[in-house]
Amino acid sequence: MHNDVLDTLTDYPFDRLRSLLGDSTPPDGCAPIHMQIGEPKHPPPGFIEPLLTQNMSEWGKYPPPNGPDDLRAAIADWLTSRYDLPPGMVDPARHIAIVSGTREALFMAALLAIPNAKNGARPAVLMPNPFYQVYVGGAALAGGEAIYLPAGPETGFQPDFTAVRDADLDRTALAYLNTPANPQGSVASLDRLKAAVTLARERDFVLAVDECYSEIYTGDKPPGLFDACQELGNGENGGDPFKNTLVFHSLSKRSNVPGLRSGFVAGDPDLIRLLLRLRQYGGAQVPLPVMNASAALWRDETHVVASRDLYRQKFDLALDMLDGAFGATRPGGGFYLWLDVGDSEAAAHKLWTEAGLRVLPGAYLARDNDDGSNPGAAYIRLALVHDLETTREAMTRLLGTLASQNGPSGRT
Ligand SMILES: Cc1ncc(COP(=O)(O)O)c(C=O)c1O
Repeated sequence: MHNDVLDTLTDYPFDRLRSLLGDSTPPDGCAPIHMQIGEPKHPPPGFIEPLLTQNMSEWGKYPPPNGPDDLRAAIADWLTSRYDLPPGMVDPARHIAIVSGTREALFMAALLAIPNAKNGARPAVLMPNPFYQVYVGGAALAGGEAIYLPAGPETGFQPDFTAVRDADLDRTALAYLNTPANPQGSVASLDRLKAAVTLARERDFVLAVDECYSEIYTGDKPPGLFDACQELGNGENGGDPFKNTLVFHSLSKRSNVPGLRSGFVAGDPDLIRLLLRLRQYGGAQVPLPVMNASAALWRDETHVVASRDLYRQKFDLALDMLDGAFGATRPGGGFYLWLDVGDSEAAAHKLWTEAGLRVLPGAYLARDNDDGSNPGAAYIRLALVHDLETTREAMTRLLGTLASQNGPSGRT
């Protein structure tokens, strides 16, 4: 006896990759390069070490569920400066929930937002396709029906909420938007964000904007949900500027501390209050030393600028070497290359067995369309998380392996 909704979920992409590659190994003497997982590898700033180790007595305490005031103040200050908000627009007491990384919080957003029925029908959850897998898990386990919106080249690699049928919008309880997006690296424009907020308010659903890659970019700073909320103002809602919306931010990618498990959700105070109630029942609190280190990280931009510069150098190098092969372009944000190789599983297998390069097939990050096609099936995802020399070696191996498969310049 178990919850049979779990049977409707596929294995997680990394498990599917393990099954695909089985016992196969790279050629003898070829050191593997792991680019399948978005695990930042730049060193985290040293100043957090004493904060994590000095006050050992703090590990003996249950942490305050929503963190010390100082952490929420640091986050409110960061949001205010990052999105150029008027002072006081973000209230640390009402607008912020501390979470144990955004993965868990994005899952909980579904439990928070999805009622038993909406307008007499099964609630729908809008999400991009391809997508971060947690959206599907949350929607399914909270009883929602996922509606997958194309997020390929035809829509600028972002979902178009305005294309959703009226009957589906009627029953929409939640919409996930990811900008910069994993895996495509696309950035939702300010207009797209404003349209999404307006639609969420008109049709009364929760807009959950996943911005965990917001600080990794090599060109313009990506706009975010709070830019859109500021521009829209309170309008006829006359209420809170973040009404119907939640934004998810994490230290994992910004500060190179995915193991710290530290992030926050900010937005509509009614939703934040209920999220905190939900977390009291089923959420993991963030340990006090981790929260103290987190406050210091949100207050420091120097390490973020340095990390961004390392990603810029790697994209410059990789894109120069690829020279447009496999449709390679500079993403608006994030640290992934999303390369059109024709057959993602075949390419991932070949790259591992012939070149020791471990990459993720895009097919595992997307759901089949009604016609059986899969919008990720032609792509592989590579995380540019290693140092410059390893990145150079990886691109050399990629070009050497796949170019021979698809012709001298690869599939363009
Ligand atoms: C799009 C996206 N959202 C959220 C997360 C979760 O990050 P974390 O739980 O470390 O904050 C990830 C991690 O890879 C991600 O790619």
